[in-house]
Amino acid sequence: MYGVLRSELPNIVILASGNGSNFQVLAEKSLNGELQARVKALIVDKPCGAIERANKLGIDSIVLSKPWYENFEHLIEDINPDLIVLAGFMRIIPENLTQKYFLKIVNIHPSLLPSFPGKDAIKQAYEYGVKVTGITIHFVDAGIDTGPIIFQKSLEVKEDWDLETLERNIHMLEHDFYWRVVNDLLYKPYKIQGRKVVWGV
Ligand code: GAR
Repeated sequence: MYGVLRSELPNIVILASGNGSNFQVLAEKSLNGELQARVKALIVDKPCGAIERANKLGIDSIVLSKPWYENFEHLIEDINPDLIVLAGFMRIIPENLTQKYFLKIVNIHPSLLPSFPGKDAIKQAYEYGVKVTGITIHFVDAGIDTGPIIFQKSLEVKEDWDLETLERNIHMLEHDFYWRVVNDLLYKPYKIQGRKVVWGV
């Protein structure tokens, strides 16, 4: 059993590289108590929109210095969060760190993995012409978007949707579900059976 029931409010850090809309929802849900965790910091690999969102919400933000993965490891050792939440963090985490923090790093990806891993997944799926796509929340391993899947939600792509409409709908799904899954990971027991994440004792 990896998930644990706890009495203290757990700590999380959120990593982003861009716009930061997923960071904002997670932070707001934490501040209003729906996500029962404290966001200790936003960590980014470069100046980006997420920082301004953190400033507005009164959450500390840290820009990783080079080499980013060494700085990242030191920060994680200092903060010792219960969960490291990737929300649009566009760096590949080195294998020594994915091993060291296995089941502690969670990522959201805007497609139904294993379809369309990597960058621009929404555009890849749109241009491929899929009728159904969605979102995947998974643990991070050494591969690119290959870790054990925790949660997926599908979305039907309507024929009259353009790319922007699909993006908007994918982001709505992400905002609706990511904080709930993070909360579940912090409070509900689960097991890893091979690649499978199985909820329950
Ligand atoms: C989200 O759609 C997230 O799923 C994606 O980046 C976007 C960040 O948006 N992540 C990946 O593609 C990871 N491979 P945001 O900055 O507005 O939260």
